[in-house]
Amino acid sequence: MEHYYTENPQSPRDVKSISFTIRGVQLEFFTDAGVFSKDKVDYGSETMIRTLPALSGNILDLGCGYGVIGLSIAKLNPEAQVTMVDINQRAVDLAIRNLERNHIKNAAAYVSDGFQNINNQFHAIVSNPPIRAGKKVIYPLFEQSINYLLPDASLYLVIQKKQGAKSAAEKLMSVFCNCEVINKKGGYWILKSTKQSSHLG
Ligand SMILES: C[S@@+](CC[C@H](N)C(=O)[O-])C[C@H]1O[C@@H](n2cnc3c(N)ncnc32)[C@H](O)[C@@H]1O
Repeated sequence: MEHYYTENPQSPRDVKSISFTIRGVQLEFFTDAGVFSKDKVDYGSETMIRTLPALSGNILDLGCGYGVIGLSIAKLNPEAQVTMVDINQRAVDLAIRNLERNHIKNAAAYVSDGFQNINNQFHAIVSNPPIRAGKKVIYPLFEQSINYLLPDASLYLVIQKKQGAKSAAEKLMSVFCNCEVINKKGGYWILKSTKQSSHLG
């Protein structure tokens, strides 16, 4: 069965255009069949974008889809350099088109299965993770994320309460020894864990 996290979706094309406005800035996105939340920006992603603090430095959007989180961060934080990755080739192609469409130069998108094609560390990692892929997929990503964060940098996740936000927070606590719920809205929790100096080994 095809999921939004399929590597090469075969579903017939259904390209749409949707708008998203954040802090007075309007972004335009192409979406397509075979990618996550193609008809409108996901409420969890929107809550994440509205919750994030100002960011600078190198930022990773892990599981970028057609790019709403990464593009919003890049547009709102011109000093940041945003890397966007996804396992789904069709999603990455859309993210690249959407970067061009919105004239965004401080971001790039490419295919990666988790951190496989990522070689550097980030000032923040942000993700609306592929919950439907299951804990066996997402918990290793949480564990690995600490290796891709600079000291004092944070991982931000959005997870629905009913899709296991509490157990995800516990998992993050076990990996990072800290986890804050920095926002709760419409059933979505925004979680933040920071790489503390005790993790620098
Ligand atoms: C919940 S969607 C969020 C998409 C996008 N960030 C948004 O907010 O609309 C999760 C994304 O993770 C991607 N994904 C699933 N497994 C992945 C993996 N192993 N590595 C990278 N991305 C993955 C999916 O293809 C999907 O685009």
